[in-house]
Amino acid sequence: MKNIQVRLASRPSGWVSRDNFTITENEVAEPGPGQVLVRNLFMSVDPYMRGRMNDVQSYIPPFQIGEVLQAGVVGEVVASNYPGVAERDYVMGMLGWENFSISDGRLLRKLPRSSAPLSWHLGILGMPGMTAYVGLMKIAAVKPSDTVFVTAAAGAVGSVVGQLARIHGCRVAGTAGTERKVALLKKEFGYDAAFNYKSSGSLAASIKQVCPAGIDVLFENVGGEIFEAALWNMRDHGRIALCGMIADYNSEEPQPGPRGMMLMIGRRLTMRGFIVTDHPEACDEYVAKAIAWVAEGKLVYRETIAVGVENAPQAFIDMLRGGNTGKQIVRLS
Ligand SMILES: NC(=O)c1ccc[n+]([C@@H]2O[C@H](COP(=O)([O-])OP(=O)(O)OC[C@H]3O[C@@H](n4cnc5c(N)ncnc54)[C@H](OP(=O)(O)O)[C@@H]3O)[C@@H](O)[C@H]2O)c1
Repeated sequence: MKNIQVRLASRPSGWVSRDNFTITENEVAEPGPGQVLVRNLFMSVDPYMRGRMNDVQSYIPPFQIGEVLQAGVVGEVVASNYPGVAERDYVMGMLGWENFSISDGRLLRKLPRSSAPLSWHLGILGMPGMTAYVGLMKIAAVKPSDTVFVTAAAGAVGSVVGQLARIHGCRVAGTAGTERKVALLKKEFGYDAAFNYKSSGSLAASIKQVCPAGIDVLFENVGGEIFEAALWNMRDHGRIALCGMIADYNSEEPQPGPRGMMLMIGRRLTMRGFIVTDHPEACDEYVAKAIAWVAEGKLVYRETIAVGVENAPQAFIDMLRGGNTGKQIVRLS
């Protein structure tokens, strides 16, 4: 059996390109004591991976040049030397951008045999869904009367945020980068109002139009100009859940912060950054609720699926440029 693997060839300066990756082919290794051999079925490409391509220490270590890149992966066990994990079990873990991975058994999570498609554990039932839940419920502590505004609203996290806000009785508005995504926000993802930030003219005026009474909760995924425009539309005592700043991830230099920070004082705003992995206690609670909401038809889920590990670099680049609707996944076998 051959193992096709994607390695980091060089660190990007500015936008990521295909040249930053190299594809190698090796024999599949045998699992050692305590290890498990996994056939990888689905992997996730996520915005945070762009940060890991830089040589900077963060909450997660950088990728190393020449090494196989890492991702959230769902796979099937081929061989196991770890008690409690057996051949044909479905597992999930931080594994490689590759067809087969060897993992310490203790680092894998066994997945239940359920009716949910396996790839959902990387999206709505996984990290992005959890991020939406933690940001909205724990960080911003939404209340039913709130107006919530979401940036990158049609992506993996944003598409869930809108629906959760709606389920919790909020009014919700958002923004995305194409007309098709804007239509989906309103038709499928529970948004009361939405606009295309690429064709809208004044961002502050467009936000005012979709949130005429102002924003109580800003769920910020983008940063940059749209964040600044949203800041000017915050209501007194508004809360900002700082989830991501994707507008900045491919900048060669960190961008200056938003103008208008005085508003934080005058309007008594609270702004809090968060990392979803700091909130493991919310996982079981969220997943149980999400399964019920899906069954009741209150929570819908979309994926954009690329096929083949050799196409993972392009899927990653496309996602950073807005090619995905909902969660970007790569199907590996
Ligand atoms: N704090 C945490 O623990 C945590 C966890 C997961 C994700 N995040 C963050 O949450 C955000 C969303 O992540 P995701 O996984 O759900 O990704 P995603 O939204 O599925 O994909 C990224 C989307 O960002 C939008 N985008 C890219 N550049 C943009 C720009 N300059 N201005 C506006 N929109 C832009 C694109 O959509 P358009 O077509 O609409 O432009 C693209 O589809 C990211 O910032 C990510 O880093 C944080």
